[in-house]
Amino acid sequence: MERWEKSLLTTGTPPKISENSFIVNEKSSCQCRLQQGLTELMKRTKIKDLLHGEEGEVLVKGWVRTRRDSKGGFSFLEINDGSCFANIQVVAEHTLPDYSANGKQMTTGSCVSIRGNLVASQGKGQAKEIQATEIEVYGPAPVETYPLQKKKHSFEFLREIAHLRPRTNTFGAVMRVRNRLAFAIHQFFQDKGFLYLNTPIVTTSDCEGAGEMFQVTTLDLSNPPRVDGKIDYSKDFFGERTSLTVSGQLEGEIYAMALSEVYTFGPTFRAENSNTSRHLAEFWMVEPEMAFYDLDDDMELAEEFIKYLLSDVMEHCAEDMEFFNKRIDTTILDTLRNITDKEFERLTYTDAIHQLQKSTETFTYPVEWGFALQAEHERYLTEKVFKKPIIVFNYPEQIKSFYMKLNECGETVRAMDVLLPNLGEIIGGSQREENYDVLLKRMRDKELDPEEYWWYLDLRKFGSAPHSGFGLGFERLVQFVTGMENIRDVIPFPRTPKHAKF
Ligand code: 4AD
Ligand code: MG
Repeated sequence: MERWEKSLLTTGTPPKISENSFIVNEKSSCQCRLQQGLTELMKRTKIKDLLHGEEGEVLVKGWVRTRRDSKGGFSFLEINDGSCFANIQVVAEHTLPDYSANGKQMTTGSCVSIRGNLVASQGKGQAKEIQATEIEVYGPAPVETYPLQKKKHSFEFLREIAHLRPRTNTFGAVMRVRNRLAFAIHQFFQDKGFLYLNTPIVTTSDCEGAGEMFQVTTLDLSNPPRVDGKIDYSKDFFGERTSLTVSGQLEGEIYAMALSEVYTFGPTFRAENSNTSRHLAEFWMVEPEMAFYDLDDDMELAEEFIKYLLSDVMEHCAEDMEFFNKRIDTTILDTLRNITDKEFERLTYTDAIHQLQKSTETFTYPVEWGFALQAEHERYLTEKVFKKPIIVFNYPEQIKSFYMKLNECGETVRAMDVLLPNLGEIIGGSQREENYDVLLKRMRDKELDPEEYWWYLDLRKFGSAPHSGFGLGFERLVQFVTGMENIRDVIPFPRTPKHAKF
């Protein structure tokens, strides 16, 4: 290895070049390698760090957002690398040695590597800029064909180019917020000593009992094996009928009955044909499950959890949140602050029905005890009556899942839903039925086969304990925090009826 190469690798700086050093003797080819070595070894700085970093020589890499040419022989480039919302401005003189080769290619969408000096900006709109000394284009993006030119695009159009939409301001900001929320979810539970549990994606049980499951099979669908006219699942990959999970709750309960407090955070799947701005066929759910918690403890945890996440994102994604507040929903920051400051309203399902019945509003769906609350009812209660998040609890037994604990009256179960203004349901949870006989009866009443759930019943046979949990829809959370109207725009690759291409 050459002396200068060694020096570069160990200290990051080249040795001093003196008149009589051998580097000078090897002359141009070696100096050329020295130069190349410097560029390669110089560490790329992310734009987020540049904006708060020291002035001096830097190397930046990213995608050109805009380019403007001045008459004075300069190009102004706005570069973004996703590390933060802001771009860095680069000023490239047309006299740069690489400019004639690369300059024309540095158009919107192209990917570039730029070395230069970070200095205080002389122009308005940014504190710092880079005066380029070396430019390289990794990948051009021809103006005639690159779809994301400067004009504003609709979210519908951007959904059709899901491979390019992360390069827009909105989707960059959504992804950073989503990322932070995922981190904060883990932080919240880890700080409380909950264990992170991975529950299976392929399952044989329908947690919600709604039969809205995607089947998983390797059988030949055009000619499946049959016995007595029915498909013979013993010949299928798992030897029985399997589906994608709708919830990790039942498995979560197994681990809560041994480790006390656990949480899952994973993908869940629902084959419900709901073409709304709140439903996905594949979404991520956070599901804590806690031994020794009753319904009050469950509601308290849910409220603390939501408040923690909203505060965290306002603190750690301030720049992105400013953007949402300016461009997507001008009330979003006020809304979030309001929620973190106030107690959630808690009311029984029965009281909720009374509130709806005494209103003068006309609803499309009937308001009657025993019927499910519809989105229009939930929104009326959160937006018009209470003007804040509410937790509705003690729902009628017949409209809720088999695993929820029956109240003494025998008519309601210890279920709770957290409802947010502008969104509706974000959390569904309950205290679980821990009594073997009561659970068995509820299963039979709801026409579930107890034999299929023998292990779930076993938890009530051996060391049963009062316990509770809930599920929070992660995309609904991201949607609420960002003010984005459609849930398809807060997940990288939305899966909805008739849409799974990319
Ligand atoms: O109310 P759900 O169906 O509750 C359960 O699955 C329970 N097993 C959770 C538990 O107790 N561990 O769903 C929980 C949440 C909803 O409140 C909603 O936020 C979200 O999951 N969710 C959806 N999000 C997007 N698209 C869908 N199709 C959703 N269905 C439910
Ligand atoms: Mg629900």
